[in-house]
Amino acid sequence: MHFELLLQLHLFAVAFWLGIVAVEYLLERTRAQSRNQGFTVARLHRQIDLLFEMPAFAVVLVTGLLLIEPTRFDGIYALKVVAGGSAVLGNMLCLIPVLKRRTAAEKDNLPDVIRQSRQIDIISVTAIPAGLVALACGVYLMVLR
Ligand code: HEM
Repeated sequence: MHFELLLQLHLFAVAFWLGIVAVEYLLERTRAQSRNQGFTVARLHRQIDLLFEMPAFAVVLVTGLLLIEPTRFDGIYALKVVAGGSAVLGNMLCLIPVLKRRTAAEKDNLPDVIRQSRQIDIISVTAIPAGLVALACGVYLMVLR
């Protein structure tokens, strides 16, 4: 596929994905309001992940991999790819506690819901900054064009 078209697709998916992450962040902040809210957040986060976030980060990953030019793999370019890859990996890992938490919510198991929420927070603390580093490096590469 043409480089420019791939890059446009990549950027479209990145923007869509960042929007999803922002909504999830706001949603997660409401989870401690009440027991019911915690369970609702567990259900909604799972739906958002399966219906929107997974397809979005799959497009980011595939287009990102196709865009790689091995001869340019150095400096900011390399940091961009590694940071982007780490963000995608973090999101894939995050799916495990998100699915487990929804199962715990269905069983009315609040301690397990809280445990899985902590796992989600721990993964997000690494994945979100990695995504922001990828974004900053990507914007830098764009400006250099
Ligand atoms: C949070 C995840 C990501 C963000 C925010 C992001 C952001 C961006 C941005 C803004 C650009 C435009 C740069 C330009 O026009 O030159 C770009 C390009 C690119 N991205 Fe990503 N990206 C992400 C994930 C990935 C992943 C997972 C890969 C590969 C495994 C990847 C590989 C690339 C490559 C190779 C380019 C082309 C760079 C160039 O030719 O200058 N990205 N990305």
